[in-house]
Amino acid sequence: MGSPGEPAALSLLDECARGFMVSQVLFAACELGVFDVLAEAPQALDAEAVATRLGTSSRGTELLLDTCVTLKVLRLEAGGGKALYGNTELSSTYLVRSSPRSQCNMLLYLARTTYLCWAHLAQAVRDGKNQYPAAFGVPSDELFTAIYRSEGERLQFMRALQDVWSVHGRRVLAAFDLSPFRRICDLGGCSGALAKECASLYAGCQVTIFDLPDVVQAARKHFLFLEEERIGFHEGDFFRDPLPDADLYILARVLHDWSDEACSRLLARIHQACGPGGGVLIVEALLDADGRGPLTAQLYSLNMLVQTEGRERTPTQYRTLLAAAGFSDVRCQRAQGLYGAILARKSAFNNGEMVTLYGVEGFLGIVRY
Ligand SMILES: C[S@@+](CC[C@H](N)C(=O)[O-])C[C@H]1O[C@@H](n2cnc3c(N)ncnc32)[C@H](O)[C@@H]1O
Repeated sequence: MGSPGEPAALSLLDECARGFMVSQVLFAACELGVFDVLAEAPQALDAEAVATRLGTSSRGTELLLDTCVTLKVLRLEAGGGKALYGNTELSSTYLVRSSPRSQCNMLLYLARTTYLCWAHLAQAVRDGKNQYPAAFGVPSDELFTAIYRSEGERLQFMRALQDVWSVHGRRVLAAFDLSPFRRICDLGGCSGALAKECASLYAGCQVTIFDLPDVVQAARKHFLFLEEERIGFHEGDFFRDPLPDADLYILARVLHDWSDEACSRLLARIHQACGPGGGVLIVEALLDADGRGPLTAQLYSLNMLVQTEGRERTPTQYRTLLAAAGFSDVRCQRAQGLYGAILARKSAFNNGEMVTLYGVEGFLGIVRY
C-alpha cells in the first residue's frame, strides 16, 4: 500500500514524464500549418476539411485536433452534427504564422534543433558539453560554426530569436529609462528584433547592430523591417574586432552562451570601449538568488548546457562579472516575465574629475563629483 499522497505524486511524475508529448503536439500542429489553415478559413472546419487542406490522414488529423482542443490552442464548435475546429485567442495571437506576435519560428526551432540536442541531455551532463556532435554530427569547438552549420539553420535561428522580442522586447527595454543613451550598440544583435523595439521606444537613439558578418548579411537580406534609418549594422567578432563607439552596449541573450572566462573577456572589452558614464545593459533569463528557480530559467540553463558553452546566471553572478570588468552602479530589474535587465555603468575620472554622463531614471546631464 502506498502513502495517501501517492496518487497525486504519481500523477505529477506522469505529467512531467510525458511533457515531451505535449511539446510534440504543438510542434506538429505548427509544422503542419493547422493554425494557419484555420485562420484562413472563413469559418470553423471539421477534421476532414482540415486534413484535405493539409494533405494529412483523417485519423491522425482528428487525434491531433482533439488534443489541441484539450490543450486550449483550438476550440470546438458543434455544427450539423459534426465537430468543427477553430483557433482560440491564444493560437490566433501566437501560433498563426502571419500574426505579428507569432511564436511559430521559435516552436519550429525548438522542434528541429533544440529537441534533438535534448535527446542527449544525460550525455551532456556526463561530459559538460553541448551536443551538436551527437545530434547533428558537427564539431562544436567553434560554437557559432556549429549553431550556424548551414544557411538554413542560421536563418531558422535568427527567425526563432526574433519571435521572442516581438512579445517581450518592449517590456525589457523599458525596465530602465534608456533615453539618455543616444548611441546604442546591440552586440550580438542578430536579426535586429531588439534594435527595432529600441528604436521605436526611444525616439532619440541611433542603434547599431553588431554581429558576425554572415549574420549581418542575412539580417540585411531577410529582415526587411530594418529599413528604419536610425538602425545601422556593423560586422565583426566581438571577441577580436574593435567595438563601435556607443553610449550604451546591449548584450541580450549573449552572455548566457559563454563561460565565465569568455564573459569576463567580453565585458572587459566593452568596458574599455565605453566612454565615461557609458553603460552596458544585460538582458537574460535570471535565476533566483539561490539558483534553484524559476523552473523555466533552470530549464534554459540546461538548454545552455546542451546547446552552448554557457549557462543562465543569478543577478549576483552577473554583478560579480560586471564588477570584475570594472563596471559600477549595477542595477537589476526583473521585468515582468522571464527576462530581466541589468544596467551597469562605467564611471571615470576625466581631467581629474569623476564624470557620470547619464542618469538612469532620467537624463541627469553631466554630473561632476
Ligand atoms: C543567443 S544569440 C542572441 C541574439 C540576440 N541578441 C537576441 O537576444 O535575440 C547570440 C548572438 O551573438 C552573436 N555572436 C556570437 N558570437 C559572436 C561574435 N564572436 N561576435 C559577434 N557576434 C557574435 C550570434 O550571431 C547571435 O546573433
